[in-house]
Amino acid sequence: MHAFNRDLGAFLPGADLYNSVMQQIGVGIVGCGGVTLQNHIPGLAMCADAKVVALCDTDAACLERAARETGVRTTTNKYEDVIARSDVQAVIIATPNITHAPIAQAAIAAGKHVLCEKPIAMNYADALAMYRAAEAKGVRNMSAFTYRFVPAMRYLAHLVKSGALGQPYHFRSCRLQDWGRRSLGWRQVAKLAGTGELGDMLSHRIDFSQMLLGRMERLVANTKRYFDDRSGQASDLEDWVAILTEFANGATGVLESSKIATGRNESWRSQDYLELNGSDASFVFFTERWNELQVGKPGGMGLEKITIPKEFWAWPASPRDATQGDPLVTFRYDQAFEFIDAIRNQRPCTPSFLDGARAQAIMDAAVRSVAERRWVQLENYE
Ligand SMILES: NC(=O)c1ccc[n+]([C@@H]2O[C@H](COP(=O)([O-])OP(=O)(O)OC[C@H]3O[C@@H](n4cnc5c(N)ncnc54)[C@H](O)[C@@H]3O)[C@@H](O)[C@H]2O)c1
Repeated sequence: MHAFNRDLGAFLPGADLYNSVMQQIGVGIVGCGGVTLQNHIPGLAMCADAKVVALCDTDAACLERAARETGVRTTTNKYEDVIARSDVQAVIIATPNITHAPIAQAAIAAGKHVLCEKPIAMNYADALAMYRAAEAKGVRNMSAFTYRFVPAMRYLAHLVKSGALGQPYHFRSCRLQDWGRRSLGWRQVAKLAGTGELGDMLSHRIDFSQMLLGRMERLVANTKRYFDDRSGQASDLEDWVAILTEFANGATGVLESSKIATGRNESWRSQDYLELNGSDASFVFFTERWNELQVGKPGGMGLEKITIPKEFWAWPASPRDATQGDPLVTFRYDQAFEFIDAIRNQRPCTPSFLDGARAQAIMDAAVRSVAERRWVQLENYE
């Protein structure tokens, strides 16, 4: 039996289902900070056939808070302990970027399914190696490109796939947040994060640009760091990034992202805009308008609003009721559902580590473009 949980905005399994532990997929979570509390734990709570059995964090206070919130008593500060457990079949990695690849590779070697936060690695070679290792071992692999789960994004992808855009002309995305000068923690340190705004926020937009329009062929990028310190701590990563690109299908792309767009707000309600223009239509998407797209038609007077059909409001087969809870929060829970459902049904996850590697190829090229102040041709990434 499922009962509706108002806080999560989802139908959650009743005790009878949770008691059938033998059939549940045991999940270990490595990294119990912001994204685990916000996305992974409530997402897993929605999955009748998953159970969090072990938690890991190097910070004792974070570990304790997550243990309190989940009631999970098996905790450790060493990810190796989680991976070694026989009751853990799947691992979620939600630690700072530098640690993703080694933890994922260790989990894969132990035969565990892996959902890894983005960016999944520090470079394309490591990301591709993760994908190949997971495929060779026959374990499910998933990159946490959460914005693919926004209902309007899913419907947009469906429309583009069905040919509604006609010949693709332009991709445009603009993510504007205001984090001010506050400390970003590990996110502002190159040796922990790899890149700043590029990996943090633009990586999602790189992912869905390629999901919608396919491979990029060449690009030129620029980044800028405005603050060398944030709240008294050194920062050596960019606060702003932009990429100008051409896709292999001939479309152009302009992608911009900033952490210091004053007054825009820090939350997910801040600006997250995408526009596609093609010969047959234009589509405009804002994350905050989760169930709406704006559409332009040839010769039209301007853009018109359409409501996303109800069948796109939640991921296929997800138990989530999209009319309950805050829809800007709850769409994220479908990500854990997709991971568990793919394990249960022995099928590839969407998005996979290959999607993570494809985004990483673009990030690497952007870093090279900035360093060498030139256009970069994308080699044959997979
Ligand atoms: N998909 C999304 O929408 C989304 C949103 C936020 C963050 N993220 C990604 O999730 C990851 C974590 O981000 P966050 O915001 O939760 O950061 P966070 O700092 O809030 O949490 C990270 C946690 O990992 C712990 N940790 C660090 N090293 C560890 C190790 N070796 N073993 C175990 N635990 C360790 C830290 O103590 C901390 O509690 C990052 O890769 C980030 O890019 C993705």
